Amino acid sequence: SSGFDFVVAANRLPVDRHVHPDGSVEWRTSPGGLVTAMESVMQDREAAWVGWAGFAGEAPEPFDDGALRLCPVPLSTEEVADYYEGFSNDTLWPIYHDVIVPPTFHRSWWHAYRRVNERFAEAVAEVAAEGATVWVHDYQLQLVPALLRDRRPDLRIGWFNHIPFPPVELFSQLPWRAAILRGLLGADFLGFQRADDARNFMRACRSVLRATAKGDVVTWAGADDAQLGAAPRRVRAAAVPISIDAQGLRELAGSPEVQDRVTEIRASLGNPKVVLLGVDRLDYTKGIRHRLRAIGELLEDGEIAPPDVVFVQIATPSRERVEAYRLLREEIEGTVGRINGDFSHLGDTAVHYLHQSFGREEIAAFFQVADVMLVTPLRDGMNLVAKEYVTARHDGGGALVLSEFTGAAMELRQAYMCNPHDIAGLKETILRAIRDNPAAKRRRMSALRRRVHNHDVQTWAGEFLSALAAAPDRPAKSS
Ligand code: G6P
Repeated sequence: SSGFDFVVAANRLPVDRHVHPDGSVEWRTSPGGLVTAMESVMQDREAAWVGWAGFAGEAPEPFDDGALRLCPVPLSTEEVADYYEGFSNDTLWPIYHDVIVPPTFHRSWWHAYRRVNERFAEAVAEVAAEGATVWVHDYQLQLVPALLRDRRPDLRIGWFNHIPFPPVELFSQLPWRAAILRGLLGADFLGFQRADDARNFMRACRSVLRATAKGDVVTWAGADDAQLGAAPRRVRAAAVPISIDAQGLRELAGSPEVQDRVTEIRASLGNPKVVLLGVDRLDYTKGIRHRLRAIGELLEDGEIAPPDVVFVQIATPSRERVEAYRLLREEIEGTVGRINGDFSHLGDTAVHYLHQSFGREEIAAFFQVADVMLVTPLRDGMNLVAKEYVTARHDGGGALVLSEFTGAAMELRQAYMCNPHDIAGLKETILRAIRDNPAAKRRRMSALRRRVHNHDVQTWAGEFLSALAAAPDRPAKSS
């Protein structure tokens, strides 16, 4: 038989193509939590991965990456602007993250989103074997499940949302809310990070579609939608929190090369007594501004000061053509400049700010340099950095300050929890994480590490795929 029994569809392929000014081509690991998690799940699996190669224009031919067949989907320059930067990241992303910045609505963006989702559905339909399992990812591809079921009723289709699913009051702002829910209901199983996200989705189905949602199953007759056929569909929605490749990271973190870097980085920082660290994509959801405000006030109050205490912020460049991201960068860089102007001395920098992407090794070393890790998002689907940090600390040291607005907070209960909107509270929590007695810190860290160890990315993928296999309505077998 032809085609793949297992197909992944995600906006990005696991690798991005970069063309250097001299014309040479380099494939780099794509940014973000989705790829980080899926890469280790897909290793050694015979499967196809349908996704965008990260640049506008004609797509490369399908090619193999180990056992994985990569199938690039082309996006024109206009589609990158309208589907990716526009609808996905300037309409959906803000709505799905508590409207931290106001969303932008453009009908032309929506049309591009629909068109690109159709293209993804076509591409999956082409490579999927009869009866194959298809795993669709994230908010960029919410129409793919129904569009795909339309073309290929034989497939078993699952979708996982890596980001939050918003409360119905926010979701309802979307002029295309019904079409999005209908798109998702083409799946057999819908996975979310938190039980609250699954509940938000169920409520949206009830209030927008008038569907029946009982327990964790939505029943939808699709009466007003020829696409989904006349027979009622039953779709299960549940929480399946994502995780990391814990073993891989532990091994990497303990490797001699990384250990050498730990020493070097500490020395480069002047061997401070306390290193505070933030590692984020430069995104307004991550609470970097709030974190800097707290750090600035702690310096002002004289509670912390270089060279004893330094703060390192790694901010990975992200979505730089979207205005909200450009404004955020300007604001953060202005704030870092002001703080350093006020509180650094010659040779003693208060805030080390790196607007760069680093490889896994370097990040694993930074984690081990960090006495206190600051993870302070205003809203985050999961936040894998929190899980990576505790796992990289195989020495048992360190302390994690974690925002209660992350999916990770549902699991990492022993972290120093914070509300990043409460600057006074955040400052106290940071000081507590610095000053708590070492035994208490080690107890917390060991509980956190155990949690991630017992619930790693393989557990997650296993849970998702069994839920998908056991989903209520088995697709009709076509003969
Ligand atoms: C988050 C999203 C991913 C996305 C990543 C990076 O992790 O859940 O779908 O790929 O951010 O963002 P980008 O826009 O660069 O793909």
